[in-house]
Amino acid sequence: MDMEQTEVMKPETLEDLIKTLHQIFQSDSINVEEVQNLMESYQSNPQDWMKFAKFDQYRYTRNLVDEGNGKFNLMILCWGEGHGSSIHDHTDSHCFLKLLQGQLKETLFDWPDRKLQSGMKPRGQSVLQENQCAYINDSLGLHRVENVSHTEPAVSLHLYSPPFQSCRTFDQRTGHHNTVKMTFWSKYGERTPYELSVSQENN
Ligand SMILES: [Fe+2]
Repeated sequence: MDMEQTEVMKPETLEDLIKTLHQIFQSDSINVEEVQNLMESYQSNPQDWMKFAKFDQYRYTRNLVDEGNGKFNLMILCWGEGHGSSIHDHTDSHCFLKLLQGQLKETLFDWPDRKLQSGMKPRGQSVLQENQCAYINDSLGLHRVENVSHTEPAVSLHLYSPPFQSCRTFDQRTGHHNTVKMTFWSKYGERTPYELSVSQENN
């Protein structure tokens, strides 16, 4: 059988997936579709990621899983019922978002027009289902992500490349933005000391 070089094996576990991601990201140019397909092909198994999935009562949490040899950050976000992000950008990075459990609503926005000072109207929205992997970057626009369920938590796996520590959040009514620093609720399964994890806002 004649297989293309870019074809990668389906990962059986999260550990498998991380190994393959390390290989792919050794290269300086990345193929978005390849990464998206790879992340989608991993069938979520809670046993693999339970130790990273730490919830907070009041807002969603960001939990660092792997630093990708400096090429990417891989993290697990835990969304309680009704938790959501603000509208935000991705600091010129690639952003992959795979659902591990539950559903998330993604709402897309265009960049606000500085001159108009008008509100931001949603351009479209979709509901991401378990195992699906979405992709966004700044040239595609901005988004807001929400767990709109009143009964089910949601867990998602995010890959950002190159890694970044701050992003911009936008006020939907005015289009004004703030730059915010992002923090981790836990790293490698260990809760981050309180002072370091107080988050302003995140993505
Ligand atoms: Fe995002």
